Amino acid sequence: MAKVRKAVFPAAGLGTRFLPATKAQPKEMLPLVDKPLIQYGVEEAMQSGVRNILIVTGRGKTAIEDHFDVSFELEHLLETRHKKDLLATVRAVSDMIDVSYVRQKEALGLGHAVLRARELVGEEPFAVVLSDDVIDAEVPCLRQLLDVYEFYNAPVVALMEVPDESISAYGVVDAEPVAHNGGRDRLYRIRNMVEKPKASEAPSRLAIIGRYVLTPEIFSSLEAIGPGSGGEIQLTDGLKHVLRCRPIYGYKFEGKRYDAGDKLGFLKATVEFALKRFDLGQEFRQYLKTLPI
Ligand code: G1P
Repeated sequence: MAKVRKAVFPAAGLGTRFLPATKAQPKEMLPLVDKPLIQYGVEEAMQSGVRNILIVTGRGKTAIEDHFDVSFELEHLLETRHKKDLLATVRAVSDMIDVSYVRQKEALGLGHAVLRARELVGEEPFAVVLSDDVIDAEVPCLRQLLDVYEFYNAPVVALMEVPDESISAYGVVDAEPVAHNGGRDRLYRIRNMVEKPKASEAPSRLAIIGRYVLTPEIFSSLEAIGPGSGGEIQLTDGLKHVLRCRPIYGYKFEGKRYDAGDKLGFLKATVEFALKRFDLGQEFRQYLKTLPI
């Protein structure tokens, strides 16, 4: 079985849920405390053993490339000012990864973005990380999926139960539980899936969250399907097409997920991540206690 070495980060979306902040800067660069969203995803991939990062960018996304590049001017300034800690933080970002970029010229959907990475991925299994799904977990969420992939040699998507009122914002699966690691409560074999169904038509409350381990058949499937929900080429539809020829699993991961592409989700993540910080948490907690809420 081939090892997963590459992770694709679709980052060409327009970020309309976060306007006007995303008018002139990519939503992937919005900071949670002091780190851009995409860096949380990149660190998760690295901690999961995936070091080859492929970012699918679009117009107005150069800040992402600059972020993962060496910044000579900044490093020089920090060096002359003897700011060793900051220098190490800034260097860690550019030293961290081997990163390549491919452009998605038009925002035609998540499936289309993944298809743009075909040449760079080649004929091997790969991960997809949606960086606005920020997941705080003891074992990185992507690592949890890779463990399932390595056991079953089949594609795996992250799953989470969501309430009725928000189910129509997700890809939703029809799936049966599978015994795994002595339990039946996390692993599912997927029977069918549908992108953004009406609550009344959703096959379950199990939503796909932005972590996937995929096999190369997904590319020909994405080419074969037409536009789906919202007139876009949907990754969920591509996966449904793959289901015709091989099983796909879903894994209800352990950890807490924040929808950081949404204003309220972003605020929740900011507060909780700040409270966990050793350098800020205590003072921030004291401050929050003084608020009249
Ligand atoms: C995308 C996927 C959807 C998935 C969601 C998870 O939707 O198309 O299947 O459930 O990410 O965050 P988006 O949030 O980009 O509309």
